[in-house]
Amino acid sequence: MRMVDLIAKKRDGLILTKDEIDFMIDQYTNDHIPDYQMASMMMAIYFQGMTTEERIYLTEAMVASGDQIDLSAIEGIKVDKHSTGGVGDSTTLIIAPLVAAVGVPVAKMSGRGLGHTGGTLDKLEAIPGFNVELASSDFIKLVNKNKVAVIGQSGNLTPADQKLYALRDVTATVNAIPLIASSIMSKKIASGADAIVLDVKTGSGAFMKELDDAKALAEAMVEIGNGAGRETMAIISDMSQPLGFAVGNALEVKEAIATLKGEGPADLTELSLTLASQMVFLAKKAGSIEQAREKLLVAIKNGDAIAKLKQFIEAQGGDPTVVDQPDRLPQANVQVAVKASQTGYVSEIIADQIGIAASMLGAGRATKDAEIDLAVGIVLAKKVGDFVEHGDTLAVIHSNDQQNGTISEKIQAAFQIQIEEVKQKPLIYQMI
Ligand code: URA
Repeated sequence: MRMVDLIAKKRDGLILTKDEIDFMIDQYTNDHIPDYQMASMMMAIYFQGMTTEERIYLTEAMVASGDQIDLSAIEGIKVDKHSTGGVGDSTTLIIAPLVAAVGVPVAKMSGRGLGHTGGTLDKLEAIPGFNVELASSDFIKLVNKNKVAVIGQSGNLTPADQKLYALRDVTATVNAIPLIASSIMSKKIASGADAIVLDVKTGSGAFMKELDDAKALAEAMVEIGNGAGRETMAIISDMSQPLGFAVGNALEVKEAIATLKGEGPADLTELSLTLASQMVFLAKKAGSIEQAREKLLVAIKNGDAIAKLKQFIEAQGGDPTVVDQPDRLPQANVQVAVKASQTGYVSEIIADQIGIAASMLGAGRATKDAEIDLAVGIVLAKKVGDFVEHGDTLAVIHSNDQQNGTISEKIQAAFQIQIEEVKQKPLIYQMI
C-alpha cells in the first residue's frame, strides 16, 4: 500500500477502507509516513469529508495507536462526561461528586485549560493540597472505595492523535468535523468508559460558533461512540455567555461548592443536573431520566452531594475544610468593579472575550507550560437579559496586579447592551 495512492483516492472523493485507514495511522504514528503526506491527506479529508464508517475506522485506529485504560477492575457501569470546552464551565467539579453520591462510579481523566477555556485539573489544583497525579492502581482503588477520582491524562494514550493534532494546528485543518470528532472520541474511548455523555457547546465562547456545526459535530461523535460499542449521547448547550457567574480557577471552585449545596447559579445548576441525569440513567442507576434527576436533587438537598465532595477532596490530598469555608481558597489581592457605560438590557456577554480577559489576568495559559494564578478571574454581576443603568457594576475583576485598565475595557466591550428587551436564548438546544 502506498500513501500517495490513498491521498489521491480521498482527493477524488472516494471512500477509504478500514485496512487503508489502519495502514495510514499505524505508519504515521511510527514515523514511516512523513508529515507532508499526512498534511495533504488531512486537507483532502477537510474538503471531501468522511463517511460514518470511515470516521469510526479512523477513531479505532487512533485508539489502537497507544495504550488503553482498563477500568474493568471498577465495579459498575463507568460513564464519562466530556465538554467541548467553554468559559466558566465548572460542571465536572459538580457532576463528579454528585453522580458518585448516587452510586455511579466516576473514573475521570481531565485536562488543563488552554487559550480562553478553563480546565478541570487547574480548577482542582486551586484546592490546597489536591493531587491530580495518582498511580493508576491508586486511581482504581479510590474509585472502588469512594466512587470518584479525577486525574490528568497519563501514559501513552492516543499518540496518533497527539501527532495529528499538532500537524492539523499548523496546516489549517483543525476545523473539520470528521477530524475533531475522531480526535475527541479516540481519547474518550481509550480512557475506558462504558458510556459517554457529551456536552457540545455552541456560541461565542465555543469551538463551534454556529448551532448547525455543533449539531453536526455532536451527531458525528455520537455515531462514533455507539459504533465503537460505547453507549453515547450528546446535548448541545449554549456558550454565548459564560456559564454561571465565576470565571477563574478558585472562583469557579467556590461556585461549584455553592451549586452542590443547592445555592448555585440557575444556568450552571440546570446544565449540571441535565448532564448528571443522563449519566445516572446510562449507568442504570435510575429507570428514567426523571427518576435520575429526582435522585440527584435529593442528594443535593440531604447533603450527600456535599459530603461526597469533601470525601473526594480529602482522598486526593486536598483540604476539605474549603467546602465549609470557601474563603480558604486562594484569593486575589485586588477587586475592581467594571461599570456599565450605558443604560439598557444586556444582549450578549461575548464569552471568549471574557475567557481571554481572565487569561490575561493570569487564570489561563498562553502557552502549554506557562504558570497560572489560581486566585484571579472575573465574577459577572449581570447576565444576558438583565437591565443595567449607566454606572452599574457589570463584573468584578479579581486580580493580583494594580493595573487592570486594559482588562477592564475588554470586559466592558464584551457586554453588549441594547435599548430593547432581550429574548433569552435556550440553555439547552437539543439532545442527540
Ligand atoms: N479537541 C480535541 O481534542 N481535538 C480536536 O480536534 C479539537 C478539539
